[in-house]
This record gives sequence, structure tokens and C-alpha cells, in this order.
Amino acid sequence: MTAEQSYEDAGDGLAHPFVKPFDVQKVRNDFPALHQTVHGKPLVYLDSAATSLKPSVVIDAVASVYGRDCANIHRGVHLLSARATERFEAVRTQVAEHIGASSRSEIVFTSGATSGLNLLASTLTQAHVRSGDRVLVSMMEHHSNIVPWQLACERVGAMVVPIPLDKAGALSLEAYANLLDTKPKIVAFTHVSNATGIVNPVQKIAAMARDAGALSVIDGTQAVPHLEVNVAEIGVDFYVFSSHKAYGPNGVGVVYGHKALLDALPPYQGGGDMIRNVSFSGTTFADPPTRFEAGTPNISGVIGMGVALAYLRNLGSDARVHEKSVLNYAKTRLRELPQVSLVGDSEHQVGSVSFVIEGVHPHDVGTLLDKAGVAVRVGHHCTQPLMEHFGVPATVRASFGVYSTCDDVDRLCDAVNATVAFFR
Ligand code: ALA
Repeated sequence: MTAEQSYEDAGDGLAHPFVKPFDVQKVRNDFPALHQTVHGKPLVYLDSAATSLKPSVVIDAVASVYGRDCANIHRGVHLLSARATERFEAVRTQVAEHIGASSRSEIVFTSGATSGLNLLASTLTQAHVRSGDRVLVSMMEHHSNIVPWQLACERVGAMVVPIPLDKAGALSLEAYANLLDTKPKIVAFTHVSNATGIVNPVQKIAAMARDAGALSVIDGTQAVPHLEVNVAEIGVDFYVFSSHKAYGPNGVGVVYGHKALLDALPPYQGGGDMIRNVSFSGTTFADPPTRFEAGTPNISGVIGMGVALAYLRNLGSDARVHEKSVLNYAKTRLRELPQVSLVGDSEHQVGSVSFVIEGVHPHDVGTLLDKAGVAVRVGHHCTQPLMEHFGVPATVRASFGVYSTCDDVDRLCDAVNATVAFFR
């Protein structure tokens, strides 16, 4: 079924998605946080790009770790530790399958996407970047895919060079091709913009990097909740994402790295578990992924992430079609509202829509929407270079999850209309 086929005209001239075969009401029952009032109004949660809500199965899985299998992993000979280790390591295999990695040893668990990107910026720069070299970073990146590269490049005297965007906020492939002529060592870019929802042509960007002899790093944080991701098909060297935007617990992330490349990287943080042998005359290190997992990891978080990814997989492509139809409905409705302009409007968009209201600061919009029970994110979305590109200090961002509905969008638009009227 295509996104177009999922539309029906409910008689009001606007497109509404079918409830079947994707039963969104049933899905909503899986998310306890949805069922509450905010300032006396039923909650409309449109901030899933900041963090998604969690289904009961994930909450229960985390509780079951602390309530039953509460032990450290890889260290204990006792049964609780064996059970926790087995559950934890099973998720590594599951994640590898989920994103099309060829081996479970290509999956490193981190404390989030930010720590994953810092790990890569630090180790890749140490291994591959020298004074005077260039690292290309797109202008639409979240600060977590800019600042780690700046810090790492500064240490070795290398340059971070921005890849420009076109007027609509999409990456300029022409400018990128020209920058590749300067022989950068690494290209880092997002799969989906957290601020606009624009989807990058990742396969093409990665192929162009490869042809130019550069390593590629993708921030997939906003893609994994909304798209089928296959790192082998994309042809990327490294791919990073977090659990908490994909219905899993906070404090967990994943770094995928092509095996031969991970094998050649130095350790990032030192500590327990990541060593082979420690001695004051010289320490040797474990093979990846253990080399990059110093200290006790977020055991319950990783196990919860496994349950979240299984939940998402079980919903299947119908959930993606549903989400896309809610996003398209939101864009159609918002475009019709007076004084509202979309920021970063594109056909290639998932998960989020950003907008501004003429004459009203986004923070005031966010406050009034909250009073109406509608939760959105307002601000620069940790993408200041992108905001500068659009010539705005901030936007209002509505972002969607598998539980979002066209009714949510109607409530958002009612609250936007009331905000416009308030400031008139
Ligand atoms: N990176 C998160 C966002 O885009 C926090 O809202």
C-alpha cells in the first residue's frame, strides 16, 4: 500500500488516513503516557523527535531487569548475571539484523547518539586525520554531529568544512561534489534532519564519499524510528542512532561500524571490560565491539531497546504509511493557516514539520500550545547553522510517532489559530 492509497476523503475535502489496516487506536493503548491531561486538556504529544513515548512492553522489560535479572553482565558466574548477559547480548544480534549489519561484532552500544558521534569523531580523527586535512559536515546537522568534529579536528589541526544546502534546506549535491574534490578524509551527515524532517539521499552521499576516498558517518537518530534502515544497502561506513527516539529507554545508543574499519580504530574510553590485559608496562585492548564499551553499560536500557525495536518491527510498514499520512495531513492543514509558513518544506520528509507564525516568537507559540494541551518543541533544535541558513532564530516543530493521529493535527491547528488570534 502506498501513502497515497492510505488517504480517504472524509467529506470535508481533507485527506484522512484509513484507520485500517493500521489500528492507531490499538497502538495508542500501548502507550500509557498518552492517556493523561495537561492543563486540563487531553494530551496531544507532538514532540516525538525530541523523545518518543514508550510502550508498556518496553517499560515492563526495563522493570523486569531490575525486578528479576538485576546483575552485572560479562562478569558474574552466577545465574542472574548469566541471564542478564544473555538478554543483553541477544540485543546485539537483534540490532545487527534490524539495520542490516553483516555481523553482531559491528554493533557497539553507547550511552546515546551523542556519545556515539563523539566516539567516532575522536577515534576516526586520531586514526585517519592529520594537520591540514578536511572533514565535511553538512549544514543541517544537529550540534552533536558538528561540535565533536570541531573538538577532534582542533586537536590535530584539521578543518571542519560545512556542506552547503539549497534554498529549501536540502543538501546541495553539486556543492558537495565540489567539496569532495578537496579530498576530505571523512564526510558526516544526517539521514533525516531533526529540525525539518528532510530525508537525505544517503545512498548517493555515501557512494560519492567512497568514490572520493572519504569515510562516511551517518547520524541515523531521526531515521530509525521512521524508515527501514539497511546499512549495507546504504553503503555507509559508520551509522549512529539512539534508543529513546525509537520507543526505547533513554541513555542507550548504537554505533554500527564496518568490521575492518572498527578493528583498526583505537579505544575511546578506558576502563573495565574493554581490555585484553592490563599491566603498568603496557595495556592491550579487546577486539571490537568490547574495545569501545568501557565500564558497566546501560544493561536495562539495552534490553529495553531490544523490546522497542521488536515492537516497531512488529508494527511493520503500515506504521510508516500511517505516520507519513499524518505528516502530509499536517503539512496540508498548516499551509492553509494564515500567517503560518513551513520551514524546510520538502517531498522527502519524515517525522517532523517545522513552521513559524509571522509576528509571533516560537517560544510564545510553544507556551500557548502547551496551555492548549499540545506538546511541541520550539527553539533552534540544536541546529543553529541550519536556522541561520533559513534566516530564523527558531521554529515550532511538530513531530510524530506511530501513535499520532489526524485528530492530533486538528488540535494543533486549532491551537495555532487561537495563538494567531491572541497576538492579533
Ligand atoms: N535532538 C532532539 C531534538 O531534535 C533533542 O529535539
